[in-house]
Amino acid sequence: MFKGLQQKWKVSGLRVLLILCTFAIGGSLTGIAGRYIMGALGINATWLWVIVYIIIVTLIWPLAVLVISIPFGQFRFFISYLKKMGRRMGLGGAIVDNRIAVAVFASGAGSNAARMIEHFRQHPNIRIALIVCNKPGAGVLDIAAKAGIPTLIIEKERFFRGDAYVPVFREAGISFIILAGFLWKVPQALTGAFSGAIINIHPALLPNYGGKGMYGRFVHEAVLAAGDPESGITIHFVDEHYDHGAVIFQARCAVMQNDTADSLAMRIHQLEHQHYPEQAEKVILNTRHHS
Ligand code: GRF
Repeated sequence: MFKGLQQKWKVSGLRVLLILCTFAIGGSLTGIAGRYIMGALGINATWLWVIVYIIIVTLIWPLAVLVISIPFGQFRFFISYLKKMGRRMGLGGAIVDNRIAVAVFASGAGSNAARMIEHFRQHPNIRIALIVCNKPGAGVLDIAAKAGIPTLIIEKERFFRGDAYVPVFREAGISFIILAGFLWKVPQALTGAFSGAIINIHPALLPNYGGKGMYGRFVHEAVLAAGDPESGITIHFVDEHYDHGAVIFQARCAVMQNDTADSLAMRIHQLEHQHYPEQAEKVILNTRHHS
């Protein structure tokens, strides 16, 4: 049961224990406070007693678990848990989620998207609100489904020759876009609408090994063919040219004598996972959001 909860809430075993303690103590406190208030109200009619009691404990419970969650260090978990419950109960309008809504665009396996989801899962100011993908069946869609994040499959015609889905993103309240292995060029309709608010990661040290056709193993093969002693990652703003916008961050790693495109790719992926979520967080928090 613990394992199941660990996966469901994406927390460590110890945190499952702390969360369950919060539930248990918060629940008991609710019961005690509820009976105390009922006693003070002096209601006798059984049916009325039951109705009033249910209303009172429904109101007290969220407060009780929030208070108890503080000494257990689980306040953030319970705030987002209660918001989620509120949304499920149709209180979406009443409980406003003020966090900055971010869309992650990915075309493939989605390991970077997964790191983003994990990093921002309980973030107080930022949430991954949408996964955008151009390939039905891509691994990133399973990752999104497991995390309960809505997905949008985009079509070429509308993306490049239509409104680039800008109204859809506006409607979803998106104010920042992270590209994480998204293989289509971003059209001007989108870079214009989200100016300074789209970032990408490239698996090499730009301006080298960038541009059209330079993605995935093609990048690593080119680095190896040139005999470069080092490679790395570049996180950069996105404009309407491939791999072109201002560089935000670079990290380097050595290229080994016996490296293959696969072994180099693995090292680069590790660098990406290590730095991309943190760098994205910094940029998002430093960007003015209009949505
Ligand atoms: C990463 O190597 C990234 O640099 C590039 O596409 C790859 C995506 O990998 N833009 P994944 O789908 O996140 O595993």
